[in-house]
Amino acid sequence: MNILVTGGAGFIGSHTLIELYKAGHTAVVVDNLSNSNPVALQRVAEIIGIPEIPFYKVDIRDREGLEGVFAKHKLDACIHFAGLKAVGESVEKPWEYYENNIGGTLTLVDVMRRHGCKNIIFSSSATVYGDPVEIPITENCPKGQCTNPYGWTKSMLEQVLMDIQKADPEWNVVLLRYFNPVGAHQSGRIGENPNGIPNNLMPYITQVAVGKRKELGVFGNDYPTPDGTGVRDYIHVVDLANAHVCALQAIGRHCGIGIYNVGTGHGYSVLDMVKAFIRVNGVDVPYSIKPRRAGDIATCYCNPSKAKAELGWEAKYGIDDMVRDSWHWQSQNPDGYPEK
Ligand code: NAD
Ligand code: UD1
Repeated sequence: MNILVTGGAGFIGSHTLIELYKAGHTAVVVDNLSNSNPVALQRVAEIIGIPEIPFYKVDIRDREGLEGVFAKHKLDACIHFAGLKAVGESVEKPWEYYENNIGGTLTLVDVMRRHGCKNIIFSSSATVYGDPVEIPITENCPKGQCTNPYGWTKSMLEQVLMDIQKADPEWNVVLLRYFNPVGAHQSGRIGENPNGIPNNLMPYITQVAVGKRKELGVFGNDYPTPDGTGVRDYIHVVDLANAHVCALQAIGRHCGIGIYNVGTGHGYSVLDMVKAFIRVNGVDVPYSIKPRRAGDIATCYCNPSKAKAELGWEAKYGIDDMVRDSWHWQSQNPDGYPEK
């Protein structure tokens, strides 16, 4: 299939492009580069072994820009990564988050349907479960109260896309609820490249290890978990990328609506991650215990068996692969991608 990849220059999008081409698909990328660097796309093309990935610097809120892309390319499906994703920033700038993520997606799906492209895979998040009522989390677990506007954009967009599919059954909508993506492509050429101080655990660990930050703050050690620190379902970004390839097969079978957890099913604590990183990579990661971070929950990991049963997808990589590949990327690119 020829796939429109919105947000394809970003962390998860860039990794997904490689797996798409490996599986025999082709892609057209639309990204406004608000949180990414075009060098990522050059490197993706090098890894795949093609001269370049078709790329348009277009904002998904720009209807005319999107129309131009659909006029030039016959597109079979969209993998929709484009969106703002910084939780803390979304609390400060709720309007910007709703306008970008929800406004942008409404424009995108309208242009898609006008061009007869009614297949979409949407990047959702475990955050839609709020403080989950069951662990491990299955897709039957009710959605919960999100603690920030970012989370609400995901929860609301799930509803929007499901309603659109209900009204027009020609649509296929796959909602992938990602757990905690980490790691990087094995080449070390592409990876996560956060702006400023990282919010998420793994990029903070790698920036401490490479000497850019003094020490990791561990947010709370008094949670009801085995070592008191928060437990999450970390998933290697290459595994996550492959879940999208498997979801395309479901779309090919006309699945209607599909909702899937994308995680490994294993919960690791903050200290498990730090210790694995030190053991596998042989580098130190100084840390100290800090107060809990507002909005954090104790434990979050999934039961990924629905994705295995229905999509034939399961995670292949373990914690050692995740910490090795995260470090490989960061140590080879201490300052991320070169300036645009
Ligand atoms: P990212 O910021 O690296 O990638 C998102 C890309 O979208 C960026 O390249 C950015 O420039 C682009 N973008 C943003 N707004 C746009 C717009 N209006 N028009 C065009 N392009 C736009 O983030 P990521 O980690 O690769 O995440 C991809 C998707 O997965 C996002 O929707 C994110 O919310 C979701 N997600 C991420 C995580 C995670 O931990 N990384 C977890 C759950 C869900
Ligand atoms: C965060 C987002 C969530 C998003 C998810 C996946 C928040 C409140 N939630 O979840 O919406 O879907 O990422 O990208 O930001 N930690 C530290 N020190 C740090 C950073 C993190 O101890 O410097 C701990 C956290 O307390 C948590 C774990 O590490 O226990 C993972 O944190 P993080 O990587 O930010 O992801 P989540 O909180 O799961």
